[in-house]
Amino acid sequence: ANPQFDVYRLPEEHEAIRAATREVCDAEVAPRAAETDSAAAFPQKSYAALRAADLHAPHIPEKYRGAGIDALGTAIVIEEVARACASSSLIPAVNKLGTMPLLLAASEELKERYLPEVASGEAMFSYCLSEPEAGSDVAGMTTRAVRDGDSYVLNGAKRWITNAGESKYYTVFASTEPGAGSKGISAFVVEKDDAGVSFGAPEHKLGIKGSPTREVFFDDVRIPADRLIGAENEGFKIAMRTLDHTRVTIAAQAVGIAQGALDYAAEYVQERKQFGKPVSSFQGVQFMLADAAMKLAAARQMTYVAAAKSEREDADLTFYGASAKCFASDVAMEVTTDAVQLLGGYGYTTDYPVERMMRDAKITQIYEGTNQVQRVVIARQVLNGLVK
Ligand code: CAA
Repeated sequence: ANPQFDVYRLPEEHEAIRAATREVCDAEVAPRAAETDSAAAFPQKSYAALRAADLHAPHIPEKYRGAGIDALGTAIVIEEVARACASSSLIPAVNKLGTMPLLLAASEELKERYLPEVASGEAMFSYCLSEPEAGSDVAGMTTRAVRDGDSYVLNGAKRWITNAGESKYYTVFASTEPGAGSKGISAFVVEKDDAGVSFGAPEHKLGIKGSPTREVFFDDVRIPADRLIGAENEGFKIAMRTLDHTRVTIAAQAVGIAQGALDYAAEYVQERKQFGKPVSSFQGVQFMLADAAMKLAAARQMTYVAAAKSEREDADLTFYGASAKCFASDVAMEVTTDAVQLLGGYGYTTDYPVERMMRDAKITQIYEGTNQVQRVVIARQVLNGLVK
């Protein structure tokens, strides 16, 4: 017998997606990554290059005039963009995060209204869940949405909103029944141009500096009632289910950042000579490379399994999404920190890319739920007998 073991080989279609993304990123995204970081400016040229290749929102179904790439292919796109520039990888990642609530729960009419513009690249979509006083504790949010005739009126503030100001559309979670906790939250589409929407100053961050993070304020924002996503008071579950899917994209981002750092370090240690030979000839250096490659391979496999589960809507996606995000982000932090170490003093300077990759990796342990929250989610799945 000559078993094919296809389970451990990506379909040709996915390898083609990787090759196409890498080509665009090598030519158009990677050369601008250092400048995007130092200027802390949204990478408009990378966005244009991703748009031209239809990689800016690959997950949007063909039905809404999107590329219709599945969850695994989308993860691969995000991984490859992150390998070149983590800030740019937030374009496809946040477009998926912002639109996932619509894909999961919105009326056909709402999907038709908003998704084609994201598919064409005319609009980006952000996700407004966290608040100044409600980060991990989502159900503690205080942003209010009050029904008034054919409208809802929103008041409150959201914080840490990725691509805020750049995005034209926002999925906003707000309390429609105060006191009901997770059972009193609803999801809405809010447009940047809606009267009463404003933005805070961009946060000054350690990494992903090319992706603006800002507060979003809602001051008597009146929106038509048909902008409700799904049913009233179903918003918490929509938010959580969205994160089940999109934590996979953060795992992919972490894998890409780590691969970028490992690629750079592996080349560098072969060129750098000390004691009369390349530092790659020393076992101490080899062991660091070996550990990095081994952990990265494990993180990548876990991410792809989680992506397959996301595509199939498997019951254990909650476990796999949280696990892949938690594991891959911890690996990314280790690998990028060791990449800096492998470059020594040079690695600590902005003349080399690995310090940027280390700074960019850090956020993957924090956003879309801290890794402590991931462990809470994972443990609950285990205790509920859902991990077999
Ligand atoms: N799918 C569907 N339903 C879910 C669910 C899921 N994954 N998880 C929970 N629910 C349901 C529960 O079944 C429960 O329903 P019932 O009441 O009908 O039983 C309800 O939701 C409440 O669930 P919990 O009791 O588990 O809720 P909790 O208040 O204990 O919160 C938590 C759990 C895991 C801590 C959650 O609040 C959480 O994930 N926090 C982290 C938030 C987060 O990831 N934020 C990231 C923001 S986005 C971002 O970072 C991106 C950016 O732009 C920067």
